[in-house]
Amino acid sequence: MAISKAPQPFFISTMEGSDIDAVMEIERLSFRAPWSRNVFLEELEREWARVDVVRDTADGSVVAFANYWLVADELHILNIATHPRQRRLGHATRLLSHMVEVARAGACRCLTLEVRRSNALAQRLYGRFAFRAVGLRPNYYADDQEDAIVMLLEMF
Ligand SMILES: CC(C)(COP(=O)(O)OP(=O)(O)OC[C@H]1O[C@@H](n2cnc3c(N)ncnc32)[C@H](O)[C@@H]1OP(=O)(O)O)[C@@H](O)C(=O)NCCC(=O)NCCS
Repeated sequence: MAISKAPQPFFISTMEGSDIDAVMEIERLSFRAPWSRNVFLEELEREWARVDVVRDTADGSVVAFANYWLVADELHILNIATHPRQRRLGHATRLLSHMVEVARAGACRCLTLEVRRSNALAQRLYGRFAFRAVGLRPNYYADDQEDAIVMLLEMF
C-alpha cells in the first residue's frame, strides 16, 4: 500500500517579482523606516543577493521573508520579517534554519547581521540560533540614530 505524506503547511522559495506587493506590505507593517519597493527590486537583480519567502501551501501567499547577501565566505542577513498576523508560528525560525543550510552548502565561515539595540525580540530569536553579539555600531540607523548590535554565528 502506498503511503502518502501530508504536505507541509508552509514552504520556502525564492521571491518572484510578482511577490513584491506582499513583501512590501510585510516590510511596511514591520519596520519604522521601511525599505522602498526599488530597494527590493534591486536586490532581485544583484548576483550576490537573495530574497527568500515563506509561503502558505494552501494559497501560495507570502507570510514572511528574508533578504541576505552571500559575499566571499560570509552570509550577511539584511532583513527578516514576518507578517504581524503570522508571528510566533515559527516562520522566522524556518527562515533562519534555511539560511544556516544555505551557508553550510556554500561553505560559508559565518552568518552576520545587525540588529537594533532595542529589538529584544529579534535578539532573542538570534540567540536561540547561537548568534552572539560581537560589536556595536553607534548611531547606525539613519532615521533615529539608534545603535546597531553586530551579531555573529560561526559555522566551524
Ligand atoms: C522578529 C520576527 C522576525 C520574529 O518572527 P516570527 O516568525 O514571529 O518568529 P518565530 O515564530 O520563529 O519566533 C522564534 C522565537 O523568537 C522569539 N520571539 C519572537 N517573537 C516574540 C515575542 N513577541 N515575544 C517574545 N519572544 C518572541 C521567541 O524566542 C520565539 O520562540 P517561541 O515562540 O518558541 O517563544 C518578527 O517579530 C518581526 O517580523 N518583527 C519585525 C521585524 C524585525 O524586527 N525583524 C528583525 C530585524 S533585525
